[in-house]
Amino acid sequence: MDAKDPSKSFTEMTELVLPQHTNAIGTAFGGAIMSWIDICSSIAAKRHCGNVCVTARVDALEFRAPIKVGDVVRLTARLNAAFTSSMEIGVRVEREHGRTGERALCADARATFVNLGEDGRPCPVPPLLAISEEDRQLVAQAAARREQRRLGREV
Ligand SMILES: CC(C)(COP(=O)(O)OP(=O)(O)OC[C@H]1O[C@@H](n2cnc3c(N)ncnc32)[C@H](O)[C@@H]1OP(=O)(O)O)[C@@H](O)C(=O)NCCC(=O)NCCS
Repeated sequence: MDAKDPSKSFTEMTELVLPQHTNAIGTAFGGAIMSWIDICSSIAAKRHCGNVCVTARVDALEFRAPIKVGDVVRLTARLNAAFTSSMEIGVRVEREHGRTGERALCADARATFVNLGEDGRPCPVPPLLAISEEDRQLVAQAAARREQRRLGREV
């Protein structure tokens, strides 16, 4: 299987916060943002594997600043690492300032997706190319988290 550059699966998605996406105080409902995070990261996983992938876990989801009704929201998803049949994907959610277009980070998360074969069982993912120092750091950090989880499960 050929290794793939993270730029090939990088995914950008734009949403408009409508009244149906808000909570009782007129800011974006967390569940709506979580759904967009899941969609954006699943597209990145599918682009990397060329296959249907399922969400196995979402970590480190933080809502850092409110998003208001009428705001334009930009989501980006980037593969941090590809392992055997799983991938870690980092997602950022930014609000665009109406007049200036300036972006502010409002939420972020890490999602783990698993590639499924035709039999519905986990199957290998293409390796991820890590060329820059940042690429290598993202891989190393994701590998350390995966190892921590593995050790946690074994206890
Ligand atoms: C995710 C799922 C396919 C894993 O199946 P499984 O039989 O446990 O598979 P394995 O134990 O062989 O693990 C396969 C890979 O998934 C990873 N994985 C499984 N559960 C995980 C979890 N909770 N968190 C992170 N990684 C996980 C394993 O580390 C392994 O990674 P690797 O191959 O890169 O080493 C299965 O648990 C499942 O179908 N879950 C439901 C998914 C779902 O419905 N999502 C919502 C809709 S998309």
